[in-house]
Amino acid sequence: MTVNQKISPVVIKPRRLPRYTSYPTALEFQDLEPGVYGEWLADLPDDQPISLYFHIPFCEKLCWFCGCFTKISNSYEPVERYLDILRKEINLIGGITSQKKNKKKISHIHFGGGSPTIISADSFLDLMSLVRDNFDILPDAEIAVEVDPRTCSEDKVKAYAMSGVNRASLGIQDFNIHVQEAINRIQSEELIADNLSWFRRAGITNINFDLIYGMPRQTLETIEETVAKTHEFKPSRIALFGYAHVPWMKKHQQMMDKHHLPEQLERQAMFNLASEKLQEFGYQAIGLDHFALPGDSLLAAREQGRMKRNFQGYSADPATTLIGFGASAIGSLPGGYAQNSPDLRAYSEALDKGEIPVRRGLKIDATDLMIREIISNLMSYFAVDPWAVAEKHGLDHDFRREKADLDKLVAVGYLQQMGTSYQITEAGQPYLRAIATLFDAYFPQDSDIIDRCVHESEG
Ligand SMILES: C[S@@+](CC[C@H](N)C(=O)[O-])C[C@H]1O[C@@H](n2cnc3c(N)ncnc32)[C@H](O)[C@@H]1O
Ligand code: SF4
Repeated sequence: MTVNQKISPVVIKPRRLPRYTSYPTALEFQDLEPGVYGEWLADLPDDQPISLYFHIPFCEKLCWFCGCFTKISNSYEPVERYLDILRKEINLIGGITSQKKNKKKISHIHFGGGSPTIISADSFLDLMSLVRDNFDILPDAEIAVEVDPRTCSEDKVKAYAMSGVNRASLGIQDFNIHVQEAINRIQSEELIADNLSWFRRAGITNINFDLIYGMPRQTLETIEETVAKTHEFKPSRIALFGYAHVPWMKKHQQMMDKHHLPEQLERQAMFNLASEKLQEFGYQAIGLDHFALPGDSLLAAREQGRMKRNFQGYSADPATTLIGFGASAIGSLPGGYAQNSPDLRAYSEALDKGEIPVRRGLKIDATDLMIREIISNLMSYFAVDPWAVAEKHGLDHDFRREKADLDKLVAVGYLQQMGTSYQITEAGQPYLRAIATLFDAYFPQDSDIIDRCVHESEG
């Protein structure tokens, strides 16, 4: 290099960090033969409970912030057609998993979407009775439904209660009318109050609220207002999601382009304020973005070391196997991950022919399982002893590369070391996701871990 040559400054390109609702993340999925998934299903042991997830990809109106896999439908007909196909999938998978004569025991069922509340009361009763024909739902199973308060009704809530539903997750997002206008999701406090009275009257008292920070028109004042209103309704659990802005994947998010989007520092201030207020109201903070009142099952699971990171965020579910039903649904089995086709037509055509609609996924090995547990421990407890997890998995892993990064994090005060255990400090907590990436064998380890903490996005 000559003296006059300029050295270009190192540009650190912000990179989105995984939320680690799975490890490896869905970004690593590749083509997967449906037959492989069929073998994984047929091999499931009879004596271990499993979880079921049903994806309902329909909504009545598009929220402009939405990052979910859903379709807008103004009529019930496409929903009915979809439910017909879903029934075929339940019978097909139920048949494969019952080959050992016994129906599989179910400890947890989750209806997500889209908006499961778009399903009529009669169709929901029907669907759950078909699930019971194919699976053995344990008496203490948790059965949860994601609720769009605008498409719910007292009749639907009665059908949920009759079907054994015992948890409802209400999409609230924000109570401020100006924010609601900016995100194209108007729902009044009266509507939320009505929903809550239907659920509580029907005996469904485990209520979650979903809130989002980092959206257009949100300020510290509106966040404080929303948290105060949330407190008045006393949901037992709250998920406080950071708005994920991915307009290259979800074009409709550009509808909000005319508004200023809160920057990283504003987002952090919003989260900190909401977290502080919720804790003043008696909620306990859980992991990355959850809060719960004393008595909630997630808090008990955390105290007993049973809490896990999964597709629903955090879970107290003891099952290690999840079967996904519906277009785009992802299952997690001992052999690996399997995802149904997200294309409604391909999903339906496969089931019309009696074929498994899985298209993508990933086989996992012992090292993946070990790293999954390390990352789940960090995401759930802000702490991990990687060597102890490796030993538990019967693996002899020296973590040499990881140890160098852990040392750097200790030096800047983001981690505290106790023997071979590491605890994320209060100063390190905003960087939880970045810290978890240092164990991720698929994440490019091409930036310095401290730079990654400070510069990379948590969107
Ligand atoms: C499937 S929706 C819940 C049920 C129903 N569709 C509703 O919106 O009321 C799941 C949750 O994902 C969250 N969500 C959706 N898009 C998001 C985004 N772009 N960033 C962060 N959270 C998002 C919302 O809080 C929403 O309540
Ligand atoms: S946020 Fe919920 S109701 Fe709104 S479009 Fe997305 S899935 Fe549908």
